Amino acid sequence: MAFGRKRNFNEIHHVPNGNISNGYGRDDMRKKILQHRKSLPIASVERRLVEEVQNNDMLIIVGETGSGKTTQLPQFLLNGGFCRNGKLIGITQPRRVAAVTVAKRVAEECGCELGQKVGYSIRFDDVTSSFTRIKYMTDGLLLREALLDPYLSKYSVIIVDEAHERTIHTDVLLGLLKNIQNARSRSVKESKLENLMLNSEMALEKEKGIQQSLSFLSRCEGVKYPPLKLIIMSASLDARGFSEYFGSARAVHVQGRQFPVDAFYTEQPQQDYLDAAIVTIFQIHLQEGPGDILVFLTGQEEIESVEGLVKQWLLQLPEARRKLVTVPIFSSLPSEQQMKVFTPAPSGFRKVILATNIAETSVTIPGIHYVVDPGMVKARSFNSVTGIESLVIVPTSKAQALQRSGRAGREGPGNCFRLYMESEFEKLADSTVPEIKRCNLSNVILQLKALGVDDVIGFDFMERPSRMAIVKSLEELFLLGALTDEYKLSDPEGIKWPSCPWNLYILKLFSLQMLIAVAMLSVESIFFTPREKADQAKRAMECFSSLDGDHLTLINVYRASCEFLQKSNMESTSSKLKSKKKMRKWCKQNFINSRSLKHALDIHSQIRRHVEQMGLHIASCGDDMLQFRRCLAASFFLRSALKQPNGTYRALSNGQVVQIHPSSVLHGKNPECIIFNELVRTNKSFIRNITRIDPLWLPELAPQYYAAQSYDFELY
Ligand code: CDP
Ligand code: MG
Repeated sequence: MAFGRKRNFNEIHHVPNGNISNGYGRDDMRKKILQHRKSLPIASVERRLVEEVQNNDMLIIVGETGSGKTTQLPQFLLNGGFCRNGKLIGITQPRRVAAVTVAKRVAEECGCELGQKVGYSIRFDDVTSSFTRIKYMTDGLLLREALLDPYLSKYSVIIVDEAHERTIHTDVLLGLLKNIQNARSRSVKESKLENLMLNSEMALEKEKGIQQSLSFLSRCEGVKYPPLKLIIMSASLDARGFSEYFGSARAVHVQGRQFPVDAFYTEQPQQDYLDAAIVTIFQIHLQEGPGDILVFLTGQEEIESVEGLVKQWLLQLPEARRKLVTVPIFSSLPSEQQMKVFTPAPSGFRKVILATNIAETSVTIPGIHYVVDPGMVKARSFNSVTGIESLVIVPTSKAQALQRSGRAGREGPGNCFRLYMESEFEKLADSTVPEIKRCNLSNVILQLKALGVDDVIGFDFMERPSRMAIVKSLEELFLLGALTDEYKLSDPEGIKWPSCPWNLYILKLFSLQMLIAVAMLSVESIFFTPREKADQAKRAMECFSSLDGDHLTLINVYRASCEFLQKSNMESTSSKLKSKKKMRKWCKQNFINSRSLKHALDIHSQIRRHVEQMGLHIASCGDDMLQFRRCLAASFFLRSALKQPNGTYRALSNGQVVQIHPSSVLHGKNPECIIFNELVRTNKSFIRNITRIDPLWLPELAPQYYAAQSYDFELY
């Protein structure tokens, strides 16, 4: 494939420094780690940073990826005495994988066992103890902690990391932490502050903010806590937005280390960016000098399909040129497997890391000299008029493209191959729109309500979502029965549950089948369809497929896998390793993704344990799948669609025309009426995870919606 003239875009200053490698021998590991820590750009400003935090309750730290913010700052603060009185330093990450990998790394640096002084906590996996002082966690998890401990009283410092990503959790967290910080300093200086506010000319303007903090306070009256230190960290060099939001907070810049990276663009537009990526991987492998390759793809499916094809292509090469290993990394990959990206390739081999945008800033992988960037990312998108959220593959922003190419210049000069033309780069948006402006707000609203913030429209967001989007989500929550007609939580206790992909607690019936379906749908894809074996894979899937749709098909897979496990356990008293191997073989034969299946089985047992702990009765629909489908219809009546004469479907809630995705077992079967979980937009609007229902169930099971709208089913 032809790439155009190279263009140097090293926009960041260049400080030559020694190479850092991860491949230490055991003995000198500690020495190497210490050396490595000292060599990081942030090391020279340790004292200054600690002073800045001492002098400012609110601080913004910006610095290029790899400068040492995430791994070093918490250690500086621990040594600086911020954990006296047994308090913790909490660091939030937008992604589970970052929380886990960084905690492991920092525990290693501190020479302690993970879960002791340094630990992490993510949904369903808490590796901390009463000794833990540095706690890495997802931002979603800290939000949950705030439900139970509104002052976040365990923490003396909270660091919101990767704030530039502006995920929905980060944005909610920023507003919440602002409130908590106010409330905590208020709890100390309560009377003093009150006088100040009364006398202040700005009292009226401030009133809204105070009201919010007060509603907060009302839940924890009479308690006094020391002020909370709040630090926002970001890889984007523009700290203005954060600083303004936090009342002109102080911002400091940590110098990074970045070598020049040459960018190459294709001379022609590429029809298929996956093919282009594979061609480019091999061009680099066969024509360029040593160094690992990092390829940015949009999700698990793409990663697995590219991984399969790279392996096949390798077989066409002479044996001596096959020294290439692929390593995938994406969020739903089990964490032991995610850690493989940090293991150096065997001597003489080149490593190709196939990653989602996880590797943009969250995870710093050593050894990368080449970046291959198709320029695409999977993003959530929400149409506030139709009220439907979908996953779309869209071009990255310029800021993302620069972050991605920067990954090639961490340890020396690098190359980035962008799989689009230079003229396209110029057309990209400068930065990514915050997620809160492009997704369904139902979860946010529920979370805020549970946190005592009743006036969601008046909440002090860093960037306010549109009024329309909020109203639409309020409406949806009311229709689902999660909010009362006064927009209060119908079940204030239920919301405190661990968050589940479908908000378990709004499901109408806790049935065994429902829990299985939730678990199976929490992972990206259970079925694995390699392009070159599509027919075989389809036949394998037919063994499990149910005429009623995808949910029941997934339940069939779950049951079959449990039966297989039981049988193989009974047949032999063989080792765990052997039965794992057998399971993997079974998965392979059935074109099932063994990683996803294992993950789903784990999630299922965890959700089930939780539901049981809550003392809720789990009913089984037994073999009465009609009951299960009615249950789905009652829960997803807002995602229902009716067949039209031309074979496409029309969503009942908004009239949007959608089509059944080819991966659905109902593709080509075209039942009259369906409910669906997911809308994916590529060139068409496809719906996925579909179950056949009876249209007459809708007015019966959701009269609040269908009776009021008086749907005329004959219309379509
Ligand atoms: O947060 P920031 O991007 O500023 O840097 P960091 O994540 O603290 O990483 C600092 C250094 O630690 C980098 O050179 C990484 O390569 C290294 N690191 C590592 O070797 N293994 C990890 N799991 C995390 C970081
Ligand atoms: Mg970081």
